[in-house]
Amino acid sequence: MSIHFDEPSRRLTLRTETASYQMQIDDLGYLRHLYYGRDAGEQALTYFHRQYDLGFSGNPYERRWERTNSPDLIPLEYSASGTGDYRVPASVVLRADGSRGADFRYVSHEIRPGKYALPGLPAAYDNGGECETLVVTLRDHSAGLTLQLYYGVFAALDMITRAAVFLNDGNAPLRLEKAGSVCLDLPFGDWDLVHFHGRHCLERQPERLPVPHLVTTVGSDRGMSSHQHNPFVILCDHEATEDAGECYGLMLAYSGSFRAEIERSQTDAVRVVMGISEQDFSWPLKPGEQFVTPEVLLTRADGLTKLSQNYHRFIRRNICRGAHHLQRRPVLINNWEATYFDLDAERIFALAKEAAELGVELFVLDDGWFRGRADDNAGLGDWFENRDKLPNGLKDLIDRITGLGMRFGIWVEPEMVNENSDLYRAHPDWAFTVPGRKPVMGRNQLVLDMSRADVRAYLFDVLSALLRDHDISYVKWDMNRSLADVFSRALPPERQGEVLHRHILGVYDLLERLTAAFPHVLFEGCSGGGGRFDAGMLYYTPQIWLSDDTDPIERLKIQRGTSFGYPVSAMGAHVSASPNHQTGRSTPIRTRGVVAMSGAFGYELDLTKLPAEEKEEIRRQIRQFHADEDTAHDGLYYRLSDGENRWFTAWQTVSADGARSVVNLVVQNPEPFAKVPHVCLRGLEPEARYLLEEEQIVVTGAALMYAGYSFPRMLGDYPAAQLHLIRQDGECDAP
Ligand code: GLA
Repeated sequence: MSIHFDEPSRRLTLRTETASYQMQIDDLGYLRHLYYGRDAGEQALTYFHRQYDLGFSGNPYERRWERTNSPDLIPLEYSASGTGDYRVPASVVLRADGSRGADFRYVSHEIRPGKYALPGLPAAYDNGGECETLVVTLRDHSAGLTLQLYYGVFAALDMITRAAVFLNDGNAPLRLEKAGSVCLDLPFGDWDLVHFHGRHCLERQPERLPVPHLVTTVGSDRGMSSHQHNPFVILCDHEATEDAGECYGLMLAYSGSFRAEIERSQTDAVRVVMGISEQDFSWPLKPGEQFVTPEVLLTRADGLTKLSQNYHRFIRRNICRGAHHLQRRPVLINNWEATYFDLDAERIFALAKEAAELGVELFVLDDGWFRGRADDNAGLGDWFENRDKLPNGLKDLIDRITGLGMRFGIWVEPEMVNENSDLYRAHPDWAFTVPGRKPVMGRNQLVLDMSRADVRAYLFDVLSALLRDHDISYVKWDMNRSLADVFSRALPPERQGEVLHRHILGVYDLLERLTAAFPHVLFEGCSGGGGRFDAGMLYYTPQIWLSDDTDPIERLKIQRGTSFGYPVSAMGAHVSASPNHQTGRSTPIRTRGVVAMSGAFGYELDLTKLPAEEKEEIRRQIRQFHADEDTAHDGLYYRLSDGENRWFTAWQTVSADGARSVVNLVVQNPEPFAKVPHVCLRGLEPEARYLLEEEQIVVTGAALMYAGYSFPRMLGDYPAAQLHLIRQDGECDAP
């Protein structure tokens, strides 16, 4: 039992592998948060929460004489505005008479086996007996508003999921102006915040700072989770390292506008509120209606590496779904950086033929294959073959490519439309625009109003026909602009505050229906590279194109940053041309391969133009990738160098059974004379002996982890090396 209710003290304790999480219903019915941290057992953790009087903090009416019980000071499981808790509210409720706030008090709770589901939203799932659910019901009686707090406890996976459901069970209409998924109070401790910022072509860069006496906001109001901020934050103690220290992660499984607000209060308590962004959000709740928030994935770990590994495992096993999520992924060739829009059937076939000869398994036909698409100013919305470029049709091209023994994949950008398209000419009202105002354009395209059922029905039909009528086993699902002019012609004025969220629910609905209808198809997410790289999308697309920057040296930063929350198998990573198209930098093909192999691996360059030795290196890389794929994708991931190291970047994977390990190192700035890149390996068994394949020597795990390993001196432009370790089961002599 991972959830326990202690009747006399009205305490609820959730326990996972290393953590306990405790809350208590107090005598006024507040649901107090007592503890989240290293497992402290069933011990009642009430004794250290002292109450005292603090000037200018309000008191509940029932305690007005005592003045020691203030909602402003007590750690709570969920907060609301307007009730004397002046820290960041998780919810703002507007009542029909214009009054605001909600005073949520305990009503009941229920513990049940299995994992709750969230209708219409991505949510973690139970693979059988892994999860227990707690639902705590609170209510504001005067407003007629019930709040249900959901907790999914995945004990062995050290993960707790949370979400909230609001139900108007009164007689008057209500409106939610803010509806956070989670409020997490950490009453004690000194915390650093780690968040992941970026931009197009440089996504998810970690930044670590002490939590200030302010409200720090991480978020996006772009209608997408964004390149700029990822819906994922870590709180860790000041001393926390990769190996040790209290670390907490909060990851929102949501792909739309979001907020994480981190506040350090007047008493140094830290509160994190996370959920849908309240900007442009206003959700009416008529009597009988409910609102379901997205889910947050919470984990606690000793050290940042363990925290990352908890997310890697959970996202792979309990978020990603479908036939492909745990399967080996095909090595692919994508024609985008090989041809851009300058494609035709013969050029594509020549590329596919070359790729097939080198051992590539899947061809992905990127942007430009459909009607009216000569460049990026026209055609989006018309998902029909372009006969100018493919005179014998798409089917003929697919037949020829599959005839090479390859599988075939295709690029689409369903949420978008160009003004210059038949779809827009027929349905201008389907795109987001504000009446009477010229819309903001992004890549000269508009966003379809995915909150509309008719838009989704059209897209389902046209994409289903594409997938049904062609032998397509892979879809790259792109999304290439942020939202603006968010106004739905299908909803009345008082419901426009629903549109942003309904839009993303619409995207999820379409993805759900298509992935269910075409279970054999592997979907890859994309948004100008990694602009929508989040656990919400990973529920539908088990891999996402990581970044439009394919320079391997830039990718070192992007992959490292992404690795804090997301598994290698989720990161689409390709070998591209040198000099690189984004940075102009030249790098060896070996280095490009070493970097991309720590991802969902592929190629994105004109293979027909490569010299023979580079083709031979590609053949070798594909063999190497297959040999190491299980270790990289299903194993444990270790960062070996910190982000400050400008000399080299190193990382390591260890197979799930511990028998194999791969160490990767890329030199960014070679240093002269006798200095060699040295790393201490991680995740090995100290007593075990490992064959270092490249060296043909056997060394103990202890030596490799504590004394380390020196790579040979590597000079020149961006050299890379790999070291393969194989655990020796018999007796071997160390050198
Ligand atoms: C986005 C993607 C690229 C490519 C182009 C096509 O930028 O990230 O990989 O598909 O769109 O227009």
